[in-house]
Amino acid sequence: QTNTRCDLMLFGALGDLAQRKLFPALYQLERANLLADGSRILAIARSEAGTDEVRNKLLEKLRQHVKPAEFDENIANDFLQRVDYLCLDFADQEGYQVLNEWRDAVNNELIVYMATPPSMYGVIARNMKSSQCCNEHTRVVVEKPIGHDLESSKVINDELGEVYNENQLFRIDHYLGKETVQNLIALRFANNLFASQWDQNHISHVEISVAESVGIEGRWGYFDKAGQIRDMVQNHLLQLLCLIAMDPPADLSADSIRDEKVKVLKALKRITPNMMETHVVRGQYTAGTIMGKPVPGYLEEDGANRGSETETFVALKVEIDNWRWSGVPFYLRTGKRLPEKMSQIIIHFKPAPHYIFDSDQKHLANNKLIIRLQPDEGMALKILTKDQGLDKGMRLRQGPLELTFSETFESDRIPDAYERLLWEVMKGNQYLFVRRDEVEYAWRWVDQVIQNWHDSDEPPKRYASGTWGPVASIAMITRDGRSWYEDA
Ligand code: BG6
Repeated sequence: QTNTRCDLMLFGALGDLAQRKLFPALYQLERANLLADGSRILAIARSEAGTDEVRNKLLEKLRQHVKPAEFDENIANDFLQRVDYLCLDFADQEGYQVLNEWRDAVNNELIVYMATPPSMYGVIARNMKSSQCCNEHTRVVVEKPIGHDLESSKVINDELGEVYNENQLFRIDHYLGKETVQNLIALRFANNLFASQWDQNHISHVEISVAESVGIEGRWGYFDKAGQIRDMVQNHLLQLLCLIAMDPPADLSADSIRDEKVKVLKALKRITPNMMETHVVRGQYTAGTIMGKPVPGYLEEDGANRGSETETFVALKVEIDNWRWSGVPFYLRTGKRLPEKMSQIIIHFKPAPHYIFDSDQKHLANNKLIIRLQPDEGMALKILTKDQGLDKGMRLRQGPLELTFSETFESDRIPDAYERLLWEVMKGNQYLFVRRDEVEYAWRWVDQVIQNWHDSDEPPKRYASGTWGPVASIAMITRDGRSWYEDA
């Protein structure tokens, strides 16, 4: 643990991400006594306002976004004493002098968090450099999306690279801060039981589902240009896939882990135009019902372009061309306005080589490891046992060896992803952040799928809100004699 004194400059401090996620996460660090005395926050945004006004606004937002049981007015007020506000036009180079005045003679470590559109990253970086507000020790945090394709991501990475070294850059993929995602590393590399089973000899296929019940939440302008493949697959789902598929790293250092992830990204099989039919499904939601409530279709959302062909759902069959995973498909699916918020990974193990039980139960004969990211973070291993009762003979039944974190480790509160990520930035540990080459290899793979869509001109398949996506997604997996695992 380190309680080094930090100065955090937060660009975009009045935006949605900062208010909903970053300030609540910082408040939680305060509550956990992890912010050193003397650590300070400079909230920077374009709106004219004074520090007191901004502190009051932040207090309101904390009340709104921190769970009541975790909210303490005194802690919140102590926390807000650390916050100063600066109104700045990010493009106004001269304005950056104020940052130096704020820093003054204070010798705290400097963290710059750009919670702004990526088009501002280069501008902020250059202005900070020319005003000498940063040096080679400054840590810089940037959010996704890093571009909308390989080319544009290179431009952003180049702009950042002109000012900062790679070891100063903390690219956020907030899925890497989720408790269960980190547990994938513990599960795989601390338990030899799994390590020895983790390959094509023992695993038949893997499912990764990230379902959301929300729609686009007023983010039409951003989302319609991105679509679900850029918004979720290029980053979160491919990161999950990498953590499942990577080889054991030599140690827990950032570069050892990231080197292994990059090898997986490089080995992803290219999806050619003639594979699109069997390997890719894109969908767009229409009106429907979620948890008993009627919801509008994508094209009826506020501000919608009625002719949009942007996808809100993607299902993919991904293959990895390497020794460990040859012949093991990874089925990925993610969508908005699905019946519930649920993210899980299912590892389907191969059946025993010789089957001796009732033939009508043969379909049960493979173990499954279910890793639940949300809700109810935990893991379950489905194993087969004999059914109870004299009349049951050797009938089988499948039951879970279950580990629900909140029940098993009762007292431990599970921190939000941003709490962990901010804490790791303060410690200067990059292993939960994405390196430039990871971003670029992920784009390279995703770009060819998007290109195939453009070339084929096929519109997304419609699915009613509150269903599990277009039927074509079910057909994609049943064609291989499998089904999506629904027992969430
Ligand atoms: C974000 C996407 O990165 O992740 C959103 O831009 C999505 O569209 C969100 O809703 C999902 O994150 P979580 O943590 O709620 O699963």
